[in-house]
Amino acid sequence: MNQLQKRVEENVAFLIILTLITLSIAMLVEILPLMFSNSTTKPIDGVKPYSALALAGRDVYIREGCYNCHSQMIRPFRAETERYGHYSVAGESVYDRPFQWGSKRTGPDLARVGARYSDEWHRAHLMNPRDVVPESNMPAFPWLAANKVDAAIMPAKLKALKTLGTPYTDAEIADSVKAVEGKTEMEAVIFYLQGLGLALKNKR
Ligand code: HEC
Repeated sequence: MNQLQKRVEENVAFLIILTLITLSIAMLVEILPLMFSNSTTKPIDGVKPYSALALAGRDVYIREGCYNCHSQMIRPFRAETERYGHYSVAGESVYDRPFQWGSKRTGPDLARVGARYSDEWHRAHLMNPRDVVPESNMPAFPWLAANKVDAAIMPAKLKALKTLGTPYTDAEIADSVKAVEGKTEMEAVIFYLQGLGLALKNKR
């Protein structure tokens, strides 16, 4: 055994440090380019920051744990693209903080559910899924129709996202209270769902 190898293998601390250095270099090589690549940091055509109402709906989606049963990432496999449409690309989720890709599919993937059903269908489905899909085991979310969106908190939400890089204008931030005032959480979450995945919806 050569001397250097012997010394490294017999000294655990040294071995750990060298392992960490090697792993760090490997991570830098894999991760750093993604942070500067256009395909992962720039929105694709047609992808805009969420409007205030969509953002409020997205927060309802997260609060209710919809992601526990629904992914939002279509993998590039025939079986998936036949069922859901064009596979998901990174440029579609640049404004998703946190992203909702997920991996658990008790229900269908929702990445391209936008415009697939009417608002009325979604409403009936969220009030009681069995009314429209008899065999469904999705829970009902009737309280969303009774709860009003918390409008006062919207400017703070948009500002926080702006700090992270979402290009909201000052006008959008100022108008965000009016944009959701009086809306129910049901309206907001349906508005959010109806916008999902439209940029690549009709492409295969
Ligand atoms: C316990 C698991 C579970 C949870 C939590 C859940 N769902 Fe579902 N969802 C399902 C299942 C199963 C289906 C398929 C049957 C059906 O359409 O009801 C479904 C279907 C759907 C569909 C129709 C998709 C399609 O392409 O046909 C939408 C839209 C949807 N869910 C939205 C939501 C939203 C919004 C939430 C959170 C408020 C949510 N789901 C929470 C299990 C769940």
